[in-house]
Amino acid sequence: MADGRRLSRRGFLAASGAGLAAAVVGTTVAGSAGMGEPDPDAVRLGDFWLFGRYEDGCADADFDEEDLSPVQLPHCVTPLSWTGWQPSSWQDRWIYRKHFTVSPAMASERVRARFDGVMTNAAVYLNGTLVASHNGGYLPFEVELPQVTAGDNILAVVVDGRWQLDVPPNLPRMDGPSVIDFYQPAGIYRPATIGTVPRTRLTDVFACPADVLSPARSLRLTCELDTTTAIAEPLQVTASVSQAGRELAQGAATVGPMPVGTKTVTFEVGGLGAVRLWDVEDPALCDVTVSVRSGPRRLDQRVVRVGFREARFTADGFFLNGRRLKLFGLNRHQWYPFAGGAMPDRVQRRDAEILRRELNCTMVRCSHYPQSTAFLDTCDELGLLVWEEIPGWGRVGDAAWQQQNLRDVSAMVVRDRNHPSIVVWGTRVNEATGTTEMYLKTGKLAKQLDPSRPTSGALASTTGARLALPPGTDEQVLAYNDYTARRGAPFQLKAPRPGVPYLVTESIGTLAGARAYRRTDPNATRQQQAELHAKAHDLAAADDRYSGLLAWCAFDYPSGWQRSMGGSKFAGVSDIFRIPKPAAAFYASQGDPRVRAVVETGFAWDFGAGFPAPGATIWSNCDRLEVFLADRHVGTARSRRAEFPHLRYPPFAVDLPPARAELRVDGYVGDRLVVTRRYSGDRAHDVLSCVPDDTELRSDGADATRVVVSVIDRYGTLRASASGKVSLTLTGPGELVGDTTLDLAATGGAAAVWLRPFAGPPGTLTLTARHDSLGVATSTVTARAPGATPTSATRP
Ligand code: GAL
Repeated sequence: MADGRRLSRRGFLAASGAGLAAAVVGTTVAGSAGMGEPDPDAVRLGDFWLFGRYEDGCADADFDEEDLSPVQLPHCVTPLSWTGWQPSSWQDRWIYRKHFTVSPAMASERVRARFDGVMTNAAVYLNGTLVASHNGGYLPFEVELPQVTAGDNILAVVVDGRWQLDVPPNLPRMDGPSVIDFYQPAGIYRPATIGTVPRTRLTDVFACPADVLSPARSLRLTCELDTTTAIAEPLQVTASVSQAGRELAQGAATVGPMPVGTKTVTFEVGGLGAVRLWDVEDPALCDVTVSVRSGPRRLDQRVVRVGFREARFTADGFFLNGRRLKLFGLNRHQWYPFAGGAMPDRVQRRDAEILRRELNCTMVRCSHYPQSTAFLDTCDELGLLVWEEIPGWGRVGDAAWQQQNLRDVSAMVVRDRNHPSIVVWGTRVNEATGTTEMYLKTGKLAKQLDPSRPTSGALASTTGARLALPPGTDEQVLAYNDYTARRGAPFQLKAPRPGVPYLVTESIGTLAGARAYRRTDPNATRQQQAELHAKAHDLAAADDRYSGLLAWCAFDYPSGWQRSMGGSKFAGVSDIFRIPKPAAAFYASQGDPRVRAVVETGFAWDFGAGFPAPGATIWSNCDRLEVFLADRHVGTARSRRAEFPHLRYPPFAVDLPPARAELRVDGYVGDRLVVTRRYSGDRAHDVLSCVPDDTELRSDGADATRVVVSVIDRYGTLRASASGKVSLTLTGPGELVGDTTLDLAATGGAAAVWLRPFAGPPGTLTLTARHDSLGVATSTVTARAPGATPTSATRP
């Protein structure tokens, strides 16, 4: 664990440049930009929380905070490494305390706090009084704080991270966190905000595109109004739809006088014939600005983002905007090394970028719970379709547990129904047999809240999956976790069930092929994973009745199911650091070569045991590969089209002599040389590399970026067989989210850490990596004040 991660209170304040007064007073709650123009997310409650283990009285207003440590959100309650997580380290109750100051004027306003995700249960106290509690770690909740007083206030959150809670996916009557396949460390691990909201406010806007493929397309608006003062005059609710900064259409409704309470207002905006449709290749989004006015006075405004697309699962496959699209994708768990789930928006967004831009996925399954909204926003922006599902894994709990399923369906659908990327709701607990009655309820609820999307739920191959749809069910897509191909057997998929929409929601994982796929495993094992992924997608592409296939899985993740392997599941096509394994090369090779021409050998050019196997694979989207040793042409790679007849870009095979020479592969599209890759067999030129994903961050205490530390050959290719220890030191105003020593023999030549600037003044963070024998590499990241204009070097 990094030395910066558990700073003492004093060290933290010094390092972050903040004074004690700031820590005690904490955040000053921002008012609205003026009455009637509130920003509901006025202040991120990120920095200066005081944190510690629960003890009696810890939520009281006058609790002695001396032994608490300052922390920033998002936060995980325990230090973690990249593997070997111990649930006992987070299975407890914890206290977070946040001081904030409210001006006399604002004390009379409507103040509320919002928590995007607290694992697992939360009890929120204001100035020592319990004001709200929430169960479940994956969905947001809001707390109105009418009791705020002018001056210092204290918000205390008791976080319960124990497995015993009767909340999905936990199963309290079963042995403990290792009975499900992913660990869930506790904490306030997603953003939290506090701010004033108008007395009459829009609590929700659902903007649902209708008749999308017709020029008469429209937007159906369902707006939830909530007022704490009676409104005597009629209210005007208006909506303006714009795309790329240009207004396309407007609509409005009038609501009669409103008593204290809530009201649902529905109306339609037509005239949207000019809208550009949202598509995976062209994810054109629209902004819908909804305002509530009383006469000339604007009481509230909310902007939601939507996309016009028609997504249809049919018995003959999946269609987007009337065009057949074979869904090509992976499952994603949200867990990261060192931080559990507590990674900020930028890091969440990066996962979507990896899936869409680097692995060419058209769809991701958020297995097995609702994931961060930053991740979903990026799916909208990049054209990555999403399956989202309620928390759960393998079994269902008691009646109270199943009631929570219903609350989760409701909270998930309401939170996310404006995302065009989401095309199906998983309203069934993953692979649980459960009762038909329960699925009818959850499916029906999702349909009520969002009539525009089908519901489904992944069925298991191993737990008596019922392949028949229950009569009268609302479940519309038959989703199957297809592990038909068990270890040792030739790879196959179950035939699609005729007459129903059919999607493969999992396949391969560690149930076919090998038990683990690590960079430290033999080349043949890593290659087998790549071949299985290619085969699975080839089979899914062979038959139009498969809507597509979402393989298991994108990234390695910590799991109690694999205690023999240090509590990690090595099923990812990329490792837990998001560093690609050879199986990722298959996905990388399935994109258009005009966008990115890819040549990736499926073998390491390191002359290790069994090297090089005859017919070794090269993954590529080129038409032809010419192979050279020491710049002498040794052959043309053979296409493996016959083995993968349905892949867009089948791999190639080469037979190479074990000459310790430099390998060069030239890739051609038609007659044009589009890419040259070189691989060095000479380890004498290997170097240590240390590369950040971003060179500029915000100094808001939450922002962070990954730095990949690896051994590479002289041409930049990862040397997976490299070993040695790398020690890391960070200078500058920030913390190292990661181990200070990386053991490359254990991680396979590469690993990563994350840099997280402190909230406070800008500065420069310099990470120095020292390898036993390969010397030093450094990387530098600039932390800028939030709101400062980034330079072009920063990824958006
Ligand atoms: C599936 C399950 C996944 C994962 C996989 C094994 O049955 O749905 O969550 O555990 O097996 O790799």
